[in-house]
Amino acid sequence: MQNQKFFSNTLLDWNETENKRQMPWKGESNPYRIWISEIILQQTRVQQGMEYYNRFIAAFPDIETLAMASEKEVYKLWEGLGYYSRCKNLIASAKFIQEELNGNFPEKYEDILALKGIGTYTASAIASFAFNLPYAVLDGNVFRVLSRFFGKEIPINTTEGKRFYGELSQSLLSKITPGKYNQALMDFGAVICKPAAPLCLQCPLQKKCFAFLKNKVAVLPVNTKTIRQKERFFNYLVVEYKNKFYVRKRTGKDIWQNLYEFVLIETKDWLDESKLIVNEEIIKILNQPDFTVNLISSKISQKLTHQLITGRFIHIELKKPWLNNEYFTVNRKELKALPFPKFIASYLADKNVSLN
Ligand code: ADE
Ligand code: SF4
Repeated sequence: MQNQKFFSNTLLDWNETENKRQMPWKGESNPYRIWISEIILQQTRVQQGMEYYNRFIAAFPDIETLAMASEKEVYKLWEGLGYYSRCKNLIASAKFIQEELNGNFPEKYEDILALKGIGTYTASAIASFAFNLPYAVLDGNVFRVLSRFFGKEIPINTTEGKRFYGELSQSLLSKITPGKYNQALMDFGAVICKPAAPLCLQCPLQKKCFAFLKNKVAVLPVNTKTIRQKERFFNYLVVEYKNKFYVRKRTGKDIWQNLYEFVLIETKDWLDESKLIVNEEIIKILNQPDFTVNLISSKISQKLTHQLITGRFIHIELKKPWLNNEYFTVNRKELKALPFPKFIASYLADKNVSLN
């Protein structure tokens, strides 16, 4: 109890006097803007998120604008951020609020939580920031700070751990200024009690911090599982016929749903280039043996949360059109307007869409 009071008071004190962290959504009271920022921050780092947030708010300043926007426009703005189901949910929720709630953002925790794409963390953040409701946020940041300071070795990725830290976090929450408290804790975890190399020497919690006093900073918090990465190998065929390119929209329920792509050949291993040029599979897919391979890009890698993507782009020029129901053709300008997964978008940006 003694330590709990010390923790909360010191945190709020630090926030008032030392916290210099600035972000465009900080201190914001408009629930729409808070909602957008929290959705972006679900899976995106603050530094990258700020730019997207500013562009998003400029393009869609309120619920009504977002509810009326075209899907393609919203996805295009989101291009490169990943986790595109966020877009789909944003549009669906904006339409729901506009049509069913007269455009008024819900003001009760349960109603906020009921919106698509909002879990307990995001609902707590919005409820506390926008409406000053007493809901403590609980995420990796909070687990880390609490487990270090209170010296709890309960693994954070277990049901028991989640319940324990949830209750602890809720009991620490300032009931007078819950929004301020939540933001202070997020900032503290990002600026002082960082995952690697926390700034213990300048930390105001130091004198009562278990991890610091017992030399356990490096081993807390405890996590029972390490995430396994899956390796995938992508060969994208940039198929061109008379200055137009074959693309399709991804419909499968995965992280790139609703984004566009070139013809994809996924392989189990990384194939030798010489094998690709005469690859039977390419001939079979394109249904014609006579085409020119204009260029094969170098190997490109991208790390996602649970996957490591390695791939290349193979530029193919056809001599006759390719008849296929799934793919359609676009010119260079249209290509630029389509939302692609980051792996493809970065490549196109790099090549400045000269594509030859
Ligand atoms: N992560 C999630 N929400 C955040 C916020 N409001 N500020 C900083 N980081 C966050
Ligand atoms: Fe975190 Fe170090 Fe402060 Fe403890 S002393 S709360 S480990 S920064």
